[in-house]
Amino acid sequence: MEPNFEKKILCIGAGYVGGPTMAMIAAKCPQYRVTVVDINAERIAQWNSDALPIYEPGLDAVVAAARGRNLFFSTDIEDGIRQADIIFVSVNTPTKTYGLGAGMAADLQYWEKTARTILACAESPKIIVEKSTLPVKTALAMERILKSNDSHVHFEVLSNPEFLAEGTAIRDLENPDRVLVGSRLTESGLQARDQLVEIYRNWVPTESIITSDIWSSELSKLVSNAFLAQRISSINAISALCEKTDADVTRVAGAVGRDKRIGSRFLNASVGFGGSCFKKDILNLVYICRFYGLDDVAEYWEKVVHINDYQKERFVRLMLTAMFNTLAGKKICILGFAFKADTGDTRESPAIHVCKRLLEEKAELVVSDPKALDNARRDLGAAGKRVSYVKDPYEAAEGAHALAVMTEWALYRELDFRRIYRCMAKPAFVFDGRNIVDHRKLHDIGFNVYAIGKPPLTHFD
Ligand SMILES: NC(=O)c1ccc[n+]([C@@H]2O[C@H](COP(=O)([O-])OP(=O)(O)OC[C@H]3O[C@@H](n4cnc5c(N)ncnc54)[C@H](O)[C@@H]3O)[C@@H](O)[C@H]2O)c1
Repeated sequence: MEPNFEKKILCIGAGYVGGPTMAMIAAKCPQYRVTVVDINAERIAQWNSDALPIYEPGLDAVVAAARGRNLFFSTDIEDGIRQADIIFVSVNTPTKTYGLGAGMAADLQYWEKTARTILACAESPKIIVEKSTLPVKTALAMERILKSNDSHVHFEVLSNPEFLAEGTAIRDLENPDRVLVGSRLTESGLQARDQLVEIYRNWVPTESIITSDIWSSELSKLVSNAFLAQRISSINAISALCEKTDADVTRVAGAVGRDKRIGSRFLNASVGFGGSCFKKDILNLVYICRFYGLDDVAEYWEKVVHINDYQKERFVRLMLTAMFNTLAGKKICILGFAFKADTGDTRESPAIHVCKRLLEEKAELVVSDPKALDNARRDLGAAGKRVSYVKDPYEAAEGAHALAVMTEWALYRELDFRRIYRCMAKPAFVFDGRNIVDHRKLHDIGFNVYAIGKPPLTHFD
């Protein structure tokens, strides 16, 4: 017989957020029954197998500790809703690709479908928790849908945005900088808020749990991502100036970051940011600002995305110019395809843009990555006739004219570049899109080295 659980928690959406967050709650709170549901049966089957659908350091162990005990993955969404006291909604909210707001606004169709399913199935009061990142005021729409039929079931909507970063999700969930819970400031809103806070208090110190009104909570997530992305675009913009002036962006960032008011994190110049969130969340913010007539504010934030696109394109042009203005028929080894290290996720990875542009220049690509090759194959799909996929970086580099480091995987710092150099076409080039390899050493080996925001190290007169 199943033990008597204190609370029944459901999460709708078993993705990069729903899976790890619920696994952490289940692992930390054996007194709760946690179920994660999804319309994607294949994903659920993977969550129930030994090959989880996402790669995240430490995730396997957390899932293994709780799965089958108080953590369950299922496709039975309706039963899950009926049973649950608290429902987290963690479905995807991508950028709209059609109609009004296309390319800017959040596509809320999955979100709204979920709200309607909850309404149709719920037979008892529920707390609905927004885990997905949403435009400010979405909770109002959710409340309106949930009150739209004659049901006497009471729903209380909370905002609890997720701040985990892929690649460090388990560490972030276990020891978050903060947990944010937004609620209505009514009696029932505050009661629901306290119930959610009680869950986190099982492992998060009280002082790290922030409570607020619901609109500030929704907006805080968009603003957090906008600020993070803005730092990257700021240093990337400066990297372009460094390349023109013989300054070194690493030194500049080091000096600037020593100022405690500025801080040193997120100041690494690179080929650009990626991931499913930064671009979509900023564009969402831009769209909301325009909606409220704040065109100057919208324009300010839109530039963060603009600089990111500029940086990716600048990298391609740097490669083209350095390699004598032609890439046709040249073999280029792409080291890393994931949008960052320690994840297999390639959504919005700068490698996608760079590879597509190199293919337009008729280059031959060999893509290497320890975790992201399946996603890379899907991303380059039709564009990928002149692409091969090789996990082993040494094999991938054989006969290549150039290496392009696109992801900061630790293993790329440790490669035997002498061995790689020997088997490459000459002159051999390295384009370090993450500034992670030892440029001086590679130059000494014989490479022509181009990094972001630094003077090139070449063997040409
Ligand atoms: N990925 C991140 O690092 C991250 C971090 C913080 C916040 N977020 C936000 O969290 C949300 C989810 O992101 P993700 O990366 O987990 O997305 P994801 O695409 O990996 O997962 C979303 C899941 O929801 C499922 N789904 C969609 N509609 C459904 C429905 N009607 N019923 C049941 N399941 C449904 C999809 O099948 C998918 O498996 C987004 O709003 C995102 O902005 C993501």
